Amino acid sequence: MKPEPSLIQTNLLLLALSGCAASAPPAVESGGGEPAASAGAEPASGAETAATQAPAPDTAAHMRVSFWSAIGARDALIQGDLEGAKRFSDGLSKQDFSALPGNWKRQAGEMQKHASEAAMAGDIAEAADSVARVAVACGRCHQQQSTDGGKVLAASRPTAGTETVARRMARHEAAADDLWVGLVAPSDEAWKQGALTLRDLSPEPPTEGDQSVDTNFTAELNAIKALGLRALSAASIEERAQLYADYLERCASCHSVARR
Ligand code: HEC
Ligand code: HEC
Repeated sequence: MKPEPSLIQTNLLLLALSGCAASAPPAVESGGGEPAASAGAEPASGAETAATQAPAPDTAAHMRVSFWSAIGARDALIQGDLEGAKRFSDGLSKQDFSALPGNWKRQAGEMQKHASEAAMAGDIAEAADSVARVAVACGRCHQQQSTDGGKVLAASRPTAGTETVARRMARHEAAADDLWVGLVAPSDEAWKQGALTLRDLSPEPPTEGDQSVDTNFTAELNAIKALGLRALSAASIEERAQLYADYLERCASCHSVARR
């Protein structure tokens, strides 16, 4: 009964990386040139913008850790891997924000509360609900800090072409990214883009080998397409979080069956 992670995992990783090329983790630049003029702060890529604030903690690096933990939890859920989702959420709930500005603490606390709920979730549905709330909490803080925590991370659209199951899945994944940015940034535009990607999915069943997938499979896929319409009309953040949780659950339930 050991699940076989290869295809889904590799693919999600590639998609995640391609979406995030603009904000690769800072760890790789350890040999970098300019020593920071002050304090012990590590050099941040992107620090140019904040160059005048002397001992600023490296918020961007903290954010990248949050980002990867939250994405890790989300992608584990998509794969139907509850334990993996709990592990990533646990890491997020224990991330140390104490070096960051005081006005962050309450919101970071809110985000971490939902992360620890996800870490203790009893099933996929509970975990999906909490992970969607984590994303909303990210978005609340970004909104208040007038920053855009998702802008640089938006995934590229899948290209059109003959629709295989794998390609359909890439569209699902692109929508998962856009809807996520919609919650996390938060961004109406990204949310709508994700909703449109789903709404515009072909009603034709995708093919596997030379064959169309069976009617049950098609029905599941059409339920995902239908979520797109609901997502388009969902205006409140609460509704959106609920829809996102539903969305993750659908991916998880089919993948955990398909991988048995
Ligand atoms: C307590 C407030 C707060 C919370 C909670 C928060 N963020 Fe952020 N985030 C910020 C601020 C402020 C910035 C801008 C940081 C900078 O550029 O120095 C930022 C920037 C980012 C960035 C861009 C980083 C870069 O490379 O420039 C990402 C990605 C990000 N956040 C993701 C997340 C995710 C995902 C979560 C939730 C798991 C989250 N953030 C929760 C305040 C927050
Ligand atoms: C009705 C069943 C079903 C549902 C629902 C479903 N998937 Fe899949 N998914 C599969 C199967 C089967 C595979 C492996 C088949 C393949 O890669 O050809 C797969 C593979 C994937 C892959 C790897 C694709 C590749 O190129 O190997 C990704 C990414 C993915 N799914 C994302 C999603 C997301 C995101 C959702 C939720 C919106 C979702 N899937 C919902 C059945 C489903």
